[in-house]
Amino acid sequence: MIDIAILGYGTVGSGVYEVIKNNQEIVDRKSGKHINIKYVLDLRKFSGDPVEDILTDDFEKILNDEDVKIVAEVMGGVEPAYTFAKKALLKGKSVVTSNKELVASHGQELIAIAATKKANFLFEASVGGGIPIIRPLCSSLTADCILEIKGILNGTTNYILTKMAYEGSGFDETLKEAQALGYAEKDPTNDIEGFDSVRKLAILSSLAYKKTVDFRDIYTEGITKITKTDIEYAKALNSTIKLIGESRLKGDKIDAKVAPLMIKNTHPIAMVNGVFNAIFINGDMSGDTMYYGSGAGKLPTASAVVSDIIDAARHVGVNIRIDWDDEKMPIIPLGDTKVCAMIRFAKKDAKTEERCVAAFDGADIIRLEGHEGEFALLTKAQNESDIKAILEKLGEEVLSFIRMEG
Ligand code: NDP
Ligand code: HSE
Repeated sequence: MIDIAILGYGTVGSGVYEVIKNNQEIVDRKSGKHINIKYVLDLRKFSGDPVEDILTDDFEKILNDEDVKIVAEVMGGVEPAYTFAKKALLKGKSVVTSNKELVASHGQELIAIAATKKANFLFEASVGGGIPIIRPLCSSLTADCILEIKGILNGTTNYILTKMAYEGSGFDETLKEAQALGYAEKDPTNDIEGFDSVRKLAILSSLAYKKTVDFRDIYTEGITKITKTDIEYAKALNSTIKLIGESRLKGDKIDAKVAPLMIKNTHPIAMVNGVFNAIFINGDMSGDTMYYGSGAGKLPTASAVVSDIIDAARHVGVNIRIDWDDEKMPIIPLGDTKVCAMIRFAKKDAKTEERCVAAFDGADIIRLEGHEGEFALLTKAQNESDIKAILEKLGEEVLSFIRMEG
């Protein structure tokens, strides 16, 4: 038997309890020993709940219980999650977590502590909810030099964009639905402004390129500026707007960003809808592999947390090697990366179109029925800083700027 503790009894924490209790036989068989939930830590009381008897608000009790070998941190936020995780690892306990804020900020340090203590710091659920993506990166694609990562990394924003595109729903009402379904972060700004996606991109990129990619260095744009008119243009272009996180190896640097991207409907990512996420990884030997599944939600996420608990139970006293060096990975400035963009302009006068077309050599012009006061240009691929310089010189009113695939 092995005793474990769950820190946080919210959406994911209650899911972890449920997955273990519902699938106890499977979990025990895969672990090779009985997994016993000895404590659940939360500040709230849950009277009448099955965890009532094992509930505590005292972390030190868990820390000082030598029988507890695995701690599942599912509280969220950097503190006290970081302090608790570090203390547990220093005591030789393994820590598993779904907390991307924690992993993106302190993952490298916690992995290193785990290694010195012959314990494990595992974080499968921190990216892509229920999708196996950390383990494939760390354990399967080990013979490759990873060249590119690209994907939908946030369930809440994909849920919102899908509802806006297919049902004409409004942004605010759809965000509320995502919150009620347990998909959104405690502060949903993290979802809609891309901060959640960029942390996940930094985690995947650090594991892929083996150096610390700091999420604070990555250009990040969310979906709050996407309008129904942008979506109409996308439809007219047989395309879909998705919030994409992407990074690419360029020599000893990477380019990386999180931003809405207009993607042709024939691309597999365009077909990823609702709370689903999809992540492409390109390796120099394996080529493209794609990972798809529920990017958020109680049971899919809890399933990933429990898979880490099982792995930790199988490896008591044995560290599972995770390569993530503390050397910082340099990131190419956004302005130096090439992009194509759809730029919507307000028609100030009869000559606006002419001036814009002249400024963007070779750009295609798109006019949409019912939107006579505006038009859009589809630029050729050029450095983002050059596009911005042209726009500044042009001085026309830009209604939206959305990058395009390819
Ligand atoms: P919730 O807010 O639903 O649950 C967190 C729980 O932890 C709450 O019950 C909270 O109590 C409790 N808690 C917070 N601080 C403490 C503390 N200091 N001591 C004891 N208990 C504490 O969040 P989720 O379950 O949704 O998310 C948890 C983590 O998993 C986050 O990092 C999130 O980003 C991540 N995640 C979530 C997914 C999802 O679909 N929901 C998917 C993948 C990852 P209180 O409410 O009183 O603050
Ligand atoms: N809020 C996150 C999302 C949870 O919507 O993707 C999963 O990490």
